[in-house]
Amino acid sequence: MHRVIISGIGVEIPEASITNEELVASFNTWVDMENVRREVSGEPLLQKSDSAFIVHASGVQTRHVIEREGILDPTRMAPRFPTRPDDALSLEAEFGIASASKALDHAGLKPGDIDLVICSASHHQRPYPAIAIEMQQALGTRGAGFDMGLGCSSAAAALHIAVNLVRAGAHKRVLVTTPEIITGHLNFRDRQTHFIFGDASVSMIVEGLAQGEKRPGRFEVLDTRAWTQMSNSIRTNLGYYTRATQDDPYMIDLEGNLIKQIGNKVFKEVTVAGHKFIVEFLAEHGLTPQAIRRFWLHQANARMNAMILKLSFGHDVDHDRAPMVLERLGNTAAAGAIIALSENHADMKAGDYGLLCAFGAGYSIGGALLRML
Ligand code: COA
Repeated sequence: MHRVIISGIGVEIPEASITNEELVASFNTWVDMENVRREVSGEPLLQKSDSAFIVHASGVQTRHVIEREGILDPTRMAPRFPTRPDDALSLEAEFGIASASKALDHAGLKPGDIDLVICSASHHQRPYPAIAIEMQQALGTRGAGFDMGLGCSSAAAALHIAVNLVRAGAHKRVLVTTPEIITGHLNFRDRQTHFIFGDASVSMIVEGLAQGEKRPGRFEVLDTRAWTQMSNSIRTNLGYYTRATQDDPYMIDLEGNLIKQIGNKVFKEVTVAGHKFIVEFLAEHGLTPQAIRRFWLHQANARMNAMILKLSFGHDVDHDRAPMVLERLGNTAAAGAIIALSENHADMKAGDYGLLCAFGAGYSIGGALLRML
């Protein structure tokens, strides 16, 4: 059994951003237009959104997105991704490669050193050919590639697999990539969710640590864990059978099948499950939360993370212990915890423990216990 490290991390954040005020202005313009129609048809009127509510309820101030104009256009309310020919690099592969190239540079590796690509994200652009295979070809990595997903735990779940494949000797170096283009699946006409998400892509290189090898500043992965429990509280029904469920299979009801969630139920249930996961996972290693220098938690809700940590520690915990990137980036699904890790570890000392913990749809929770070399 090999010791395993994360030898490189890469993060790609799109340049364009949207403030709460911009998002709310576009949403409320659409509500005004829609309510004119509803007054005539007698349907219930829609309520407006509010940026003060968004900051208070979630902590999000801005989000970065691949394409902003389509989202902010009240007559469209969705990003516009131009169609690409089949022989051009797809958007998801391109976004994955942007962070993967940075992770390879960080690890000091060339694409040919990688013998497996796992592309793991909340939503994939298509079922096949796998995005990971497209990335394999475009980058020039060896071996194989496959796609997988586990909601906002997608990166942590792929890390769980990659670490154990390398530990067992099945692969030498694995590229785990998580391109989250979540604005493509978000219903910007839904007041409950329109403000939550942003786009981001992250990649990690997982490889073995040779006998006597020293990689100061890198993290050894001591253990990984995955936990799931069925819940319909975060759900998307959009898939390849959607057409067959419609009376007219060529007029698909997209809007009714996009992401929906019962936010306050998710908040309560995942807070309890997340805190239990953290305490039990650490206890298996004879550790308590107090022994962990830094927590990189899923970035969905600032109040939720504060509550998970309070339940775990028995008191409030500051942002130095558990940094947040949510305020600036929104919820970037499975990328969020990895961005928090990437931006907040340079001050850690050799021997310091860190805990990566992501949670979300499924429900699913993924964790990795790390120690700085
Ligand atoms: N603007 C203004 N008011 C809004 C609003 C908006 N955009 N969206 C909802 N509201 C209102 C509701 O109508 C409700 O009003 P009422 O009390 O008069 O009925 C009130 O705000 C509270 O709604 P609620 O849904 O209970 O809000 P919340 O405090 O739970 O916050 C979330 C909503 C989504 C921010 C929060 O529940 C959350 O982050 N949950 C966890 C989500 C999560 O982790 N998901 C994982 C996915 S990765």
